[in-house]
Amino acid sequence: MSLVRKIASSVGQSYLRINSSLASDTLQVRNPPEKPVFDRGRIFKKISDQLSICRMNQADMHYVMSTWALQEKWTPTQFTIEAFYAADPNGYYMLFNNDEPVASLAAVCYPTLKIAFLGLYLVEKTQRKNGYSKILWDNVVADLKSQGYALGLNASPYAALATPDFYRKLTFEEMHTDQAWQLKDALPLPAMALPPGIKVVELTDELVDQVVSYDSRIFGQDRKDFLVAWMKKPDTFTFVALLNDQVAGYVVASQRVLPLEPEKKSYRIGPLYADNADFALGLVHNVLSAVKEARPIVIDLPGTNIPVAEKVMQHFGFSFFYNSVHMFTKKPVMNNDEKVFGKSALTIAHI
Ligand SMILES: CC(C)(COP(=O)(O)OP(=O)(O)OC[C@H]1O[C@@H](n2cnc3c(N)ncnc32)[C@H](O)[C@@H]1OP(=O)(O)O)[C@@H](O)C(=O)NCCC(=O)NCCS
Repeated sequence: MSLVRKIASSVGQSYLRINSSLASDTLQVRNPPEKPVFDRGRIFKKISDQLSICRMNQADMHYVMSTWALQEKWTPTQFTIEAFYAADPNGYYMLFNNDEPVASLAAVCYPTLKIAFLGLYLVEKTQRKNGYSKILWDNVVADLKSQGYALGLNASPYAALATPDFYRKLTFEEMHTDQAWQLKDALPLPAMALPPGIKVVELTDELVDQVVSYDSRIFGQDRKDFLVAWMKKPDTFTFVALLNDQVAGYVVASQRVLPLEPEKKSYRIGPLYADNADFALGLVHNVLSAVKEARPIVIDLPGTNIPVAEKVMQHFGFSFFYNSVHMFTKKPVMNNDEKVFGKSALTIAHI
């Protein structure tokens, strides 16, 4: 059993027990997981006698996501931590005041693209307004900038305190608006006839390398470690579109944690990458057959491919849910926007 699964199964129950009467602005985590012994081994920077920034390990990340992030209603897809960590094991930071963790920040680096994607920007609730977030941000961001990284992030409505205006002041510019869409109802699946030569199959070990290389052509850099962990996490379906036996698209759908309705099965789709809308339709059709009655099913549509991606999801009865603003300090060069029908993981990646 992997480290993350061990951690998740040992704390999973308490992680989900939420007091719904308190779920107004923030969620109250009942029986929060016990604090792990935080990893202080990889010091990024010592700021003062009291303050130091360390790189998080997977147990530290699990703690942040299942307490601080959950209180902000950031509902994680299950078992994401192992994949997030694999994307960049050096990309997760925690600020300590003596031995007390007070703030977190993710800055996942994509060295070929020279993009660092920021997320998990959180200060422990009782420690806010002490200047901790700015100390963490300024030190990590200065290091990334000195290495020539452009910075990207997603300002979502679930980060009410950090709006696009907040990030504009930090020299971020609005690039486009992504749209979360969802399927709430168990509608009958429309009939689906794929064009000749196309078939959709479930991922096999033999197809993994082909899918990784297809993904890297669209994403702009190899992210095999992330992708393998992402596709192979529990409660996940991965389907591949083949055109004459060559990969022409793929989709991943993973079960989500719904803190207020833990008994309910829900899924998040992403990535949904495909050569064209026909392949995307075939892939989503297979996902919906596989997840059966589980609802809601959510997907993040990229602002760069909105009219086409919208049509694909409308075909199955999905509808608009909310906007989130995609922001960058410098616009990345993307060559394959028309092949992105659903984004991969808004917390750590730009598409
Ligand atoms: C947003 C959040 C991280 C800020 O932390 P904080 O401890 O409250 O902020 P600090 O005390 O460190 O910052 C003090 C001031 O600097 C601002 N600030 C925060 N980070 C900053 C940065 N990186 N650069 C410049 N200013 C910053 C704050 O807005 C605040 O301004 P104000 O005093 O005029 O209101 C915190 O409120 C939080 O965890 N919110 C919930 C999660 C969230 O929304 N995260 C953002 C996700 S996109």
